[in-house]
Amino acid sequence: MSSEHEIENLSHESRSFAPSAEFSKSAIAQPNIYQDSKANRLEFWADRARELDWSKPFTQTLDWSNAPFAKWFADGELNVSYNCLDRHVEAGFGKRVALFFEGEPGDTKVYTYLDLLIEVKKAANVLLKLGVTAGDRVAIYMPMIPEAIIAMQAVVRIGAVHSVVFGGFSADSLASRIQDAEAKVVITADGGFRKGKASALKPAVDEAIADGKCPSVTNVLVVKRTGQDVAWNSSLDLWWDEEMHVVENEHVAQGFNAEHPLFILYTSGTTGKPKGILHTTGGYLTQAAFTHKNVFDLHAAQDIYWCTADVGWITGHSYVAYGPLANGATQVIYEGTPDSPDWGRWWDIVQKYHVSILYTAPTAIRSFMKIGSSVTKHYDLSSIRVLGSVGESINPEAWMWYREVIGSSKAPIVDTWWQTETGAIMVSPLPGITHTKPGSAQVAIPGIEISVVNDEGQEIQAGHGGYLTITEPWPSMLRGIWGDPERFKETYWSRFEGKYFAGDGAKLDEDGDLWLLGRVDDVMNVSGHRLSTTEIESALVSHPFVAEAAVVGAKDETTGQAVVAFVILRRSQLDHIGSEADTSKILREHVAKEIGAIAKPRTIFVVAELPKTRSGKIMRRLLRDVAEDRPIGDVTTLADTSVMDTITGRLNDGASD
Ligand code: PRX
Repeated sequence: MSSEHEIENLSHESRSFAPSAEFSKSAIAQPNIYQDSKANRLEFWADRARELDWSKPFTQTLDWSNAPFAKWFADGELNVSYNCLDRHVEAGFGKRVALFFEGEPGDTKVYTYLDLLIEVKKAANVLLKLGVTAGDRVAIYMPMIPEAIIAMQAVVRIGAVHSVVFGGFSADSLASRIQDAEAKVVITADGGFRKGKASALKPAVDEAIADGKCPSVTNVLVVKRTGQDVAWNSSLDLWWDEEMHVVENEHVAQGFNAEHPLFILYTSGTTGKPKGILHTTGGYLTQAAFTHKNVFDLHAAQDIYWCTADVGWITGHSYVAYGPLANGATQVIYEGTPDSPDWGRWWDIVQKYHVSILYTAPTAIRSFMKIGSSVTKHYDLSSIRVLGSVGESINPEAWMWYREVIGSSKAPIVDTWWQTETGAIMVSPLPGITHTKPGSAQVAIPGIEISVVNDEGQEIQAGHGGYLTITEPWPSMLRGIWGDPERFKETYWSRFEGKYFAGDGAKLDEDGDLWLLGRVDDVMNVSGHRLSTTEIESALVSHPFVAEAAVVGAKDETTGQAVVAFVILRRSQLDHIGSEADTSKILREHVAKEIGAIAKPRTIFVVAELPKTRSGKIMRRLLRDVAEDRPIGDVTTLADTSVMDTITGRLNDGASD
């Protein structure tokens, strides 16, 4: 937690913006919601759960007897897909638009709730035909197209478990995720459109499962999106379209136990191996739906909602594939990048579909801010009435720009703090109630209990900084790490007794509002995406050139943090190694191959030594000073105090990429 950050926040924290009286009057969440949730927290959640359709009602709300393994609504049964689709059609909303799809090349497609239901039923029948049954795992590696959502809904409809792998991850990353979950089927596409080009996906699947590396996989279903050539393995591969064509339109959704596994989503931790975060059925959908409706003030019959996240991340699960559909919302999904064909694309989409609720990440907001309002002023953004932010702290300057330029100085901003592990929003303003402060995520949502604690686990006073913990179980909490219950306990529940430790530093201001101060562990946050320093270090040392590597997250104006690597090269390889620029290029490509392009270091410094304590631990704090171009901090615990002079001396001579 840098003191610099705290000072910046302090100078801003007195400013706040009240919602307009008109907004507050018709807001979904009214002020009594806080008292109601406090009066009986479990009953509050049980009432939220009862807003869903249960094929078998639950009688028990929470079973915490085997903490930290929670059971919510444990004797109830429901079907997530039925709740997201069938029940809206049965209630007479079949003609309401569920998805407005905007492809990057400009092609569009509209799905009503009835259309989507029919597609999901067919896809469920395709999976059944391939022998997928309840509990089986299905990997999904797709571009941001409607079939990605149809696939997710179809998998959970039959009680199978999906593991969506972001399309930007490499074949190796995909393979390790398929292996860990022992996925039976992989659903992919030939490719997707990004930055004006067709970008292939199928070859990565082919490579991931080649040479018997993923023996669990019995079929690969391929959506035709770009029409590019693909290699074909006729014993495994099937075209999605052909299969969808020959199955029945009807599928009756059966209820599954509330604690039935729903999905696994891999996320980076502090070790080299990503963790498969496990979510289950009833509690997850309850909190995803409740937060989506209340935090974004969703009036389903009028609003057009757009969350820019990819389904490969938790935001794309909870606030694209599940929450909005559970609430019968009309949403926009967009396949491509914000700058295709130019930086006006998003605002063109807002104008075209009259988007009223926009949910995105600070890194995108900062990119637009850099370009300036010369782009946005060509578009009519007056439909926007609520703005959301997620993924990292939003700096007050970006917050103000978002409010003034995108929100026409009237739309409330909800800065939502949560994690893959929490499954749904945990800390956020409520837009009709909270007086919002630029840069602060502010307060726990109703039904959630948090505490900021010091090193000893004691609650800190307002005005101080500490660690963000969650003190009571919540419905959408992770139920574990796939295949590793010990790691689950150790990672989240061992640092502070009886509390979930989120890995984030935070501060409470004098009003008791929460300010997130970034990760306190070895996890970086690049463009709102989680990356592990250790995972990238392992990727670097797996290259024959590299003897040792240390990776740090350095402050970056646009992406929040950027990956900066320090490497020591192998003496034995020096004859094969070209110029420093070449080496850097080779190593960056190597990381992209091992993990994915998002993990590529921005900068690689070749150094002769790394700063280590006497016990051999790399002092990343000092490397961060170098990477952020700051004076080097306290070096007294270094085994060899001259190391930092060597590193900075060398770098000042211009040795970087
Ligand atoms: O450090 C916090 C940051 O993102 C981490 C969770 O990353 P991930 O599991 O990938 O989920 C991202 C989308 C929910 C957190 O531990 N983070 C997320 N939202 C915020 C945030 N930091 C500050 N403010 C936020 N609103």
